[in-house]
Amino acid sequence: MRQYQAVEETGMSINKKIRHIENTIVLSPSFKQAIAMIRECHERSKLTTEPKCMLLIGNTGYGKTTIANHYVGQYARVVSKDGTTVPVFYSMIPSNATIKGLACRLLEDLGDPLYDRGTTINMTSRLCRLIKECKVELIILDEFQHLIDRDSDRVLRSTADWLKDVLNRTKVPIVLMGMPNANSILTVNPQLMRRFANICELKAFNWNPVKERDDFLRFLIMIEKATFFPQPSILHSNEIALRIFCATKGVVSYIKKLISKAAEIAYVKNLDRVTTEALALAYNDELALSNTMSNPFLVDHENLNIPSLEQSFHNSSDAARHGGKRRVAEILRR
Ligand SMILES: Nc1ncnc2c1ncn2[C@@H]1O[C@H](COP(=O)(O)OP(=O)(O)OP(=O)(O)O)[C@@H](O)[C@H]1O
Ligand SMILES: [Mg+2]
Repeated sequence: MRQYQAVEETGMSINKKIRHIENTIVLSPSFKQAIAMIRECHERSKLTTEPKCMLLIGNTGYGKTTIANHYVGQYARVVSKDGTTVPVFYSMIPSNATIKGLACRLLEDLGDPLYDRGTTINMTSRLCRLIKECKVELIILDEFQHLIDRDSDRVLRSTADWLKDVLNRTKVPIVLMGMPNANSILTVNPQLMRRFANICELKAFNWNPVKERDDFLRFLIMIEKATFFPQPSILHSNEIALRIFCATKGVVSYIKKLISKAAEIAYVKNLDRVTTEALALAYNDELALSNTMSNPFLVDHENLNIPSLEQSFHNSSDAARHGGKRRVAEILRR
C-alpha cells in the first residue's frame, strides 16, 4: 500500500509515465556531435558558393531519425499569408526510389497540393522552385539506403544523379541519413562522393574503453531520471549496467525499449524502483526473441555473454592465459 501511494505521488498515470520515458531524449556526446555537424553544414552553406553536405550513417536503432527530428524541431515551419517557410526540410526517401517517386514524395512533404501531377521534368522544376519559395536552408533526407535496389542490391544511379542535379540547381545543402551499407551509393558516383565528404558515423555504446563506458553509464542515469520512482534503481551500477549492456549490445533503441518495459512492469506491480527481476521480465518480453543468449538478468556473472568484449579480450594474450570466469570478474572490476 505504501509503495502504491509512493508511485501515485507523482500524480501521473502509468501511461503518462511510460510516454515520458519514451519521449526522453538524452543528449549523449555522439548525439551532440551529430547535431553540431549538421549545424555546421547548415550555417557554413550560407557563406560558401558550394553547399556543405554530409552523411549521417548508423545501423538500425542507433538514433538517426531522432537526431533529425531534434534538429528539425528547432526550426519551425511558418505558414503565413505570404506563403510557407520551411527552414529545415525533412523527408524520407521511399524504398526502391524512382526519380518520379522521390520527386513526388518531396513535393508532397513540402506541401505541394498537386504533388503527383506532371512529368518528371515538370515535377523537378516545381520542386526546385518550391525549395526556393519556402526559403529552405537545409534538406535532411532519411533512409538513403533506399537508393539501393532491394532485390538486385544495385545502386539506383539515375535517382542518385537526379539528387545531385537538385543539389546543383538549388544550392541548398543536403544531409543524407541511412544505414552504413548506403556508402556504396557514393562510391559508384564520384561527383556525389565529393559533395558528401563529411561523414558522421553513429556507434553503439561500448563497455571499453572507460571513456565510452562513461557515456553509456551517463545515458542510463538520464533515462533513470525519467522513470519517477521513489527509490533509486541505480541502473548505472557496474553490476546492472553490465547486464544491460549484454542485453542491448549498447544499442540506444534496445536500451530504451528494455528500461521502458521494465519501468512499466515495476509501475504495474507497484514496486518502488526498477528491479533486476523487472529487467529480466522486460528482456523476455522485448528482446529475447531477437537474441539467442540466456537472459542476462538471470545468469551468474561467469556466464554473461559479452559479445564485442569477448572478441577483443580473446585477442589479448591475457585471454589466452585465463578462463571466462576471470574475464567477467575483471571486466566488472575495471
Ligand atoms: N539520444 C537518444 N536518447 C533517447 N532515446 C533515443 C536516442 N536516440 C534514439 N533513441 C530512441 O531509440 C529508438 C530508435 O531511434 P531512431 O528511430 O532514431 O533510430 P534510427 O537510427 O533512425 O533507426 P532506423 O535505421 O531503423 O530508422 C527510438 O525509440 C528513440 O526514441
Ligand atoms: Mg530512422
